[in-house]
Amino acid sequence: MNEFYGKNGILFRLVRAGSPDMQVCCLQIPRDLLLLGIGMNTEFLFAPSILACDFSDIGSALARIEECGGDLVHIDVMDGHFVPEITVGAPVVASLRRRTKVPFDVHLMVDDPEHFIPLFAKAGADWLTFHYEAVTHIHSVIGQIRQAGMKAGISIVPSTPVPLLAEILGMVDLVLVMTVNPGYGGQTMIDSCLRKIRELVRLRQENGFRYLVSVDGGVNAGNFTRVLDNGADVVVSGSAFFNGSLAGILQSRTDFGGVDAFVRSRTGGG
Ligand code: DX5
Ligand code: ZN
Repeated sequence: MNEFYGKNGILFRLVRAGSPDMQVCCLQIPRDLLLLGIGMNTEFLFAPSILACDFSDIGSALARIEECGGDLVHIDVMDGHFVPEITVGAPVVASLRRRTKVPFDVHLMVDDPEHFIPLFAKAGADWLTFHYEAVTHIHSVIGQIRQAGMKAGISIVPSTPVPLLAEILGMVDLVLVMTVNPGYGGQTMIDSCLRKIRELVRLRQENGFRYLVSVDGGVNAGNFTRVLDNGADVVVSGSAFFNGSLAGILQSRTDFGGVDAFVRSRTGGG
């Protein structure tokens, strides 16, 4: 290959001195067009959110997630208090659990999430993520989730800065960066949130932490590269997945040996 991308999305092409190609030895390419280009990180866990599916036929949505190689099923639980909408609870999750073996990534957008821990554990959640903004005794909630046999995640809304998580980062399995205000699918990504991914990856490296960094809200084919370039491990998508616009990106993924192998490679743990 005699072409490569340098920093800032510049495509370099090596040519022989004196050849007619000399004039085009450097081309500026907009980053969004690099989506499937050289150097794209094709290793990430993909977590389609069923919030954007037809709720009268969630079974078909699960089948489609399996077909497209979804690694986790992202299930958004809303209580009408922490966010205005109400979605699904543990009984629905228990029914869905019987329809697929794909692990469940349950995102609690609820007040007092500790009340729901045993219910979602019993229903078959694998990863349980709650909001920093909804809880006072965070250490205790993380401990309860772990004790119930699930991986524990913490999520922050766009207005919550990463440094507020300093005392917690060593304890969690996942940090979910919301790139929209939680509560609805189909919103536009707040770009400034993407730097939080980089910040979390840096803190993980510097401190030997073991969490995955997940990104949720407004992901689409146009910003996917930026999400990955910032270091996201897990990408959640509702609308763009179910409207089919991520198909090309999903097909370009390389086989990384399953969720557990991926988690080990990113965090050094199991
Ligand atoms: C929003 C939810 C998201 C939502 C993402 O509050 O947490 O998981 O399903 O949907 P899109 O991808 O449509 O922004
Ligand atoms: Zn979510």
